[in-house]
Amino acid sequence: MRMVDIIEKKRDGGVLTEEEIRFFVEGYTHDEIPDYQASAFAMAIYFKGMNKHEIAILTDAMEHSGDVVDLSSIPGVKVDKHSTGGVGDKTSMALGPLVAACGAKFAKMSGRGLGHTGGTLDKLESIPGMTIQIEKERFLKQVKDIGIAIIGQSGNITPADKKLYALRDVTGTIESIPMIASSIMSKKLAAGSDAILLDVKFGSGAFMKTLEDARNLAKHMVEIGDSLNRDTRAILTDMDQPLGLAVGNALEVKEAIDTLNGKGPRDFVELVVKAGAISLEQAKLAKNREEGEEMIKKAIDDRSGLAKLRAMVEAQGGDPTYIDHPEKFPLAKHIVALIAKESGYVERIDSMAIGVGAMKLGAGRATMEDKIDMAAGIVLNKKVGDEVEEGDILLQYHTNLDLSEKERKAIEKSLSEAFEIAEDKVEVHPIIHDYIK
Ligand code: URA
Repeated sequence: MRMVDIIEKKRDGGVLTEEEIRFFVEGYTHDEIPDYQASAFAMAIYFKGMNKHEIAILTDAMEHSGDVVDLSSIPGVKVDKHSTGGVGDKTSMALGPLVAACGAKFAKMSGRGLGHTGGTLDKLESIPGMTIQIEKERFLKQVKDIGIAIIGQSGNITPADKKLYALRDVTGTIESIPMIASSIMSKKLAAGSDAILLDVKFGSGAFMKTLEDARNLAKHMVEIGDSLNRDTRAILTDMDQPLGLAVGNALEVKEAIDTLNGKGPRDFVELVVKAGAISLEQAKLAKNREEGEEMIKKAIDDRSGLAKLRAMVEAQGGDPTYIDHPEKFPLAKHIVALIAKESGYVERIDSMAIGVGAMKLGAGRATMEDKIDMAAGIVLNKKVGDEVEEGDILLQYHTNLDLSEKERKAIEKSLSEAFEIAEDKVEVHPIIHDYIK
């Protein structure tokens, strides 16, 4: 078989055979197919797409390109949750402990942040001592004993995806539904859980810009999961504003703790309760979503979710007194209020602008080598639907950087412009726009 023939077949809109797709994945993983052919192939898929069968095979081939985690020694249904990347998305840190408190086994491998989106691993590392590098046996024991572990992807999971994703990132081929769906699902399937809940974001700052594209991606991923015998469901949520109030590592951990203490922001609590209910249904612990919601709310009220977060932090070497006393997290040197220049109602808060702003304040990485300032970020004071009077505080930004006047003005300008203020009252939508399954 020759790679050039496979490229030409896809370029001309052909449907690839299982052998051809596996030939590519194996050859590329083992450096037998060069980057220039892989980029031409990715571009051909970008333009010509793939059918469901091709996507399922691509996913399966990438899933098995490296190690596959075996969670079968842990009794019960193992649940996982994945977000396609948002701003202020601290969901796993609240949802995981809550579903574990209700009896589910939450075994999650998370990622790091890049660009305007944060990553759960970086956020967790703002807790002193916390490690996310845990060997397999300890990971399995922790999930068995306390019901939850959130760790980094171990050495050799989906090496094909790692290579292909890095290549797509620099060849203009990220925004392709077959390749995004197979990339995400190969990692989720290799991580070994029985049930997967996907939070597919759309809008500014998300991969998918429209609800329709998000629905399309979600349907593809649910079909892949189902065809490979995992209970896969999806929710569609918008990024027309950051999730909750806090954006930035330690700030988001504090908001997750507040939420588990019954003091979370409205939209975030709504997401955690509704998504948690689906995970409990998938874990067969709740008969339906309504019952699941009641269970999650109870785990917030009785603080059993908070106790699970504390137990996880302790098991992973973190200092649990930070969970008891979140005021211990160090604050940034500069905390600056951004003031509204007009009155009205908040219609939209551009997540991309807020995410990029937080990154520039030190909370994120522009490249994988950059260091993160755990205390940096943004705390919103107004959300979509809120009334604003000229002179009100829109947000506070936290930074340890000594910004020049020019830098400060530029950041404040883009953060101000992130707020779209309408004259008339604005309706607030439910956080979940649709459910796939
Ligand atoms: N996230 C992934 O893991 N892969 C993609 O292709 C896009 C987003």
